[in-house]
Amino acid sequence: MSAPKTRVFSGIQPSGELHIGNWLGAVRTWKTKVEAGTEDNFYCLVDAHAITVPYEPAELRERIDLMAMDLCACGVDPEKCTLFVQSDVREHMELAWYLSTVTPMGDLSRMTQWKDKSEGKDSVSTALFTYPVLMSADILLYKAAIVPVGDDQLQHLELTRETVRRWNFRFGNMFPEPQPVAGAVRIMGLDGQAKMSKSKGNTIAVFEDKESAWSKLKGAYTDPQRLKKSDPGRPEICNIFTMHTLLSTKETQDEVRANCTGGKWGCFDCKKVLHERMEHELVPLRAKRAELSTAKTREALGDGASKARRIARETIREVREVLGLGSLAKGAES
Ligand code: TYM
Repeated sequence: MSAPKTRVFSGIQPSGELHIGNWLGAVRTWKTKVEAGTEDNFYCLVDAHAITVPYEPAELRERIDLMAMDLCACGVDPEKCTLFVQSDVREHMELAWYLSTVTPMGDLSRMTQWKDKSEGKDSVSTALFTYPVLMSADILLYKAAIVPVGDDQLQHLELTRETVRRWNFRFGNMFPEPQPVAGAVRIMGLDGQAKMSKSKGNTIAVFEDKESAWSKLKGAYTDPQRLKKSDPGRPEICNIFTMHTLLSTKETQDEVRANCTGGKWGCFDCKKVLHERMEHELVPLRAKRAELSTAKTREALGDGASKARRIARETIREVREVLGLGSLAKGAES
């Protein structure tokens, strides 16, 4: 018998349009893994995470369908991986509660995402505070070993690893310590002020049309010290160049770097080339997106949830056992 495949898990909030940051930071890696087929891939639309901040229920429902179709168009093919919606598998919430018993509040209060999202607010939900515990539950429910995420989620992943160490020490070896993939990236927003993020309105969407993407990209923040074309640029601090390193060929990157540092190309020129590279990568995804229907994707999500639930139930059974929970009464669910 061959060895079981390494399990991969990752998630995305269905709370806005899929943007270039999601694509370059995570979803492109998911596509590569799904296509390679050498690992057991689980990708999840984390709707329960999306309700930790104020939101519109009807809009969320719609976004779940749209995000599922976006992911399918991006190559996260449900025929070759397990694609599902988090709240369709209630065990995520249950495990989160159990994990919260070994997660210190001090650790949660040090999370930068918590600090950013709660800062200056009169009132924030408890769920926003315990958000990383649910994220740990997502990963551990499937005993995933690899978690492909962007740089902004690495701190949460480190917390999960800490939770695993605590849990395994207390209750016996149950979970592997999940690892990120090498070279996690952070794409800054077009405003250059914060990471590209649905909630900040500083994004270019993956399925945005060519003209609209260009009108946003041409106004994007670059090196503030460059006032005129002949000023030598600093690619190492420029978000446009970061995107070149992820979208352009080595040759184009060298050309961009030389012309930027040599004051031969202005930022507009670098952006024009980047836009071409972006189009080159995104046009096939848009074409695939146009072929997809809600009905078909929903069917795939249903299958995905059934498959995920089988594994989730097994983990919950083990967890309840080591925690000493339940009545053992006939008829009580184990
Ligand atoms: P979310 O929905 O914010 O983003 C989904 C994925 O996209 C990456 N990403 C970025 N990467 C680079 N630059 C950016 N500007 C950028 N913006 C987003 C994120 O790092 C992420 O990989 N908490 C997670 C979802 C989640 C999850 C999980 C992930 C819930 N449970 C379990 C992994 C495992 C989040 O809000 O991602």
